[in-house]
Amino acid sequence: MEPLPFLRALIRRPDLPRLPAVSLGRFPTPLERVGEISGADLWVKRDDLSGAPYGGNKIRKLELLMAAALARNSRSVITFGAAGSNHALATALVSRQIGLRCVNILGPQVNSIAVRRNLLASFQAGAELVYSAWRDTPVTTAWHFARLWREDGVPPSVIPPGGSSPLGALGFVNAALELAEQWKQQEATAPPDTIYVASGTMATCVGIAAGLALAGWPTRVEAVRVTVAPFTSMCRAKNMYAGIQTLLREYGISLPPLRGERFRLREDFFGGEYARHTPESAGAVQYAWEHWGLRLEGTYTGKALAACLHDLRTGEMSGKRVLFWNTYNSHSAVFEPLTREQAPALWRQLPEPFHRYFEEDVQELDAVM
Ligand SMILES: Cc1ncc(COP(=O)(O)O)c(C=O)c1O
Repeated sequence: MEPLPFLRALIRRPDLPRLPAVSLGRFPTPLERVGEISGADLWVKRDDLSGAPYGGNKIRKLELLMAAALARNSRSVITFGAAGSNHALATALVSRQIGLRCVNILGPQVNSIAVRRNLLASFQAGAELVYSAWRDTPVTTAWHFARLWREDGVPPSVIPPGGSSPLGALGFVNAALELAEQWKQQEATAPPDTIYVASGTMATCVGIAAGLALAGWPTRVEAVRVTVAPFTSMCRAKNMYAGIQTLLREYGISLPPLRGERFRLREDFFGGEYARHTPESAGAVQYAWEHWGLRLEGTYTGKALAACLHDLRTGEMSGKRVLFWNTYNSHSAVFEPLTREQAPALWRQLPEPFHRYFEEDVQELDAVM
């Protein structure tokens, strides 16, 4: 168990407990300068490379959340997401790595190739996949919680959707401090003016905003909505920030208040439904691949980059420094290539309610990405 390095440096009182974290990733993740677009200087923070065999934004949260589960002596974790949840997959893979059982309670969503890939990879990682309509999730959770407690002899740990609790968000407070440290080492003098990042359950964007406040940067976070309320809302952002403040206070760190002009919820690239790709998100995914060789997807990073590219192209960011935070895993090792014969043999082993993601067509825009 290692403390997070940058937060650790801020902890003022040596008598305070260490902040336990399981080391799961490869940090710092690269910071890359992409070049100039419409007079703005564009950078990318490559959290897609945060871990192997699986990267993306979940690794930073899980380092802390899994440490908490181990400290409670849990033998199992329960977590939640939509059927194709990246968080559920990351939790399945990390659980296997550290020897915990993982139960993923998953709700319905629009179909895509990514849903299929994530379901199969989670299953292959040994997670127990449980389908639950959203309204049934509390009862389903209570039932599995009691079952696992009985089987393990100790209570399982419950990890919230997206790994988004104030504790999980500390992973991104640390990430913003990591960025500040990297930035100092670059030729770039002034900090970025704006950071674009997808907002699903908000620990990523709010954690970054908190870390930037600790670094004393005036940078604005553009949190690009990809989910409906209550998963993404200003009310949730404020509560998450307050939760981070309370947690940091326990470590002797005083976090300045969240300033309105430093955190903006972007509504205009959502497209009305979680995981529904839009022409803009599909276009951004294509652009990132063709111009920078970056593999994004249409649910999160495509929408965040679409907002970023839109603002760049209007010229309003000219002369500014802009950073796109890539939160999507870019390793493909966990997605074993399956032949036409192997794929059905595997997906038919999933619980029956998941079969429809393999039997029904994927959404149209999937084909162009
Ligand atoms: C690829 C990707 N990017 C961004 C996010 C959003 O992060 P958060 O849930 O912390 O807002 C998620 C997960 O929800 C994700 O899977």
